[in-house]
Amino acid sequence: MEPDWPVWKEHIESQQIALEKFRRSYQVNRRRYLAQSVLNMDFDARSFDMAISVNCITQYLDLNADLLREATIKAVDVVKPGSRVVYFPFGDGFAPIGDPRAYFFEHRLRRQNQRQLLGFLDNQDNLTYQVKPVIGSIHKKLVIVKS
Ligand SMILES: C[S@@+](CC[C@H](N)C(=O)[O-])C[C@H]1O[C@@H](n2cnc3c(N)ncnc32)[C@H](O)[C@@H]1O
Repeated sequence: MEPDWPVWKEHIESQQIALEKFRRSYQVNRRRYLAQSVLNMDFDARSFDMAISVNCITQYLDLNADLLREATIKAVDVVKPGSRVVYFPFGDGFAPIGDPRAYFFEHRLRRQNQRQLLGFLDNQDNLTYQVKPVIGSIHKKLVIVKS
């Protein structure tokens, strides 16, 4: 059952508005949207001005350090030089849902894998990065810049 918090209702409403906006946009321009795995994207290298992952690469693929690194290599590959790859959230997790022990285990694993990713980025000559606070959020984001 969903919680009865005003903030939760606001969250659900904003999701419904976004979904409706997407539905209308999809009706008029289907070719604008492609469903692909980040690990197997069919895009040319250096073809996008930016790549953003919201609750996707981190929260899912960061449970596995190899997948996190692999996804990052792909995301960096498809953006143009001078462009950014942004992961939100970074360095933290969401509130525990379900068994708190499972949550803390996952959280620790993600942090460990994310730290490992930063170590990998440190060794890439063409990449710099920053972990930045997100205005209006308790969460942070990772901004990778490709030179
Ligand atoms: C919690 S949803 C977030 C969706 C949206 N970004 C948002 O914030 O509302 C997580 C998304 O990650 C996507 N996802 C999981 N693994 C993926 C992968 N390997 N490549 C691309 N997307 C993936 C899922 O399809 C799902 O849509």
